[in-house]
Amino acid sequence: MKQKTILVGVAGASASGKSLLANTLIEELQSEHLCIISEDSYYKDQTHLTMEERVRTNYDHPDSMDHELMLDHMNQLKTGKAVDVPIYDYSVHNRKDECRRVLPARVVIIEGILLFTRPDIREAFDLRFYMDTPLDICLIRRMKRDIVERGRDVDSVIKQYLETVRPMFLQFIEPARQHAHLIIPHGGKNRIAIDLIKTKIRDLID
Ligand code: CTP
Repeated sequence: MKQKTILVGVAGASASGKSLLANTLIEELQSEHLCIISEDSYYKDQTHLTMEERVRTNYDHPDSMDHELMLDHMNQLKTGKAVDVPIYDYSVHNRKDECRRVLPARVVIIEGILLFTRPDIREAFDLRFYMDTPLDICLIRRMKRDIVERGRDVDSVIKQYLETVRPMFLQFIEPARQHAHLIIPHGGKNRIAIDLIKTKIRDLID
């Protein structure tokens, strides 16, 4: 009998340590039967917009995401089919032309800020985790990351944080934490949480 794909969702504020937790799980479970997808891959196509218009997009509102495509991919992976996940380029606020082929895996970890805001998406996850990292820590990390990795400057990071990132966190992301099975403090290096999650995933795999 074909084994079921386990979908794991890791949500939480921007720069709360979601990808660190997801990558640590992949490394430590050391299996080619795991893969990671970022919700950011599903930001809507903005090819038709100018750069100025793209800068004004609210990237922390659920409407900025092509959640239909993400849910479709989740369902395809669940039925053992490969999917072509868009590749996102933060420096131009748009998808690249090429996609990344993701093969069906035993465990698929999806990480992203808005994963638990929509009932049909959150219910598709077998396990839901929420990174409960203090917002000041997230802001420090985001500031560093956006300048080093995403081609931003201090003023633009602060403007975006005050206008959209923080308000959308309070309106959408934080309220959705009630839907998590487990709330994880102390970030993506929380050893006890990692060990507990690994045990649960191994349990589901067996
Ligand atoms: N974002 C942006 N510009 C875009 C698209 C997205 O600034 N063109 C920002 C959004 O404001 C959103 C963030 O990207 O808040 C989502 O990515 P984030 O969750 O911060 O990245 P991860 O690496 O997944 O975070 P973590 O550190 O928790 O792993």
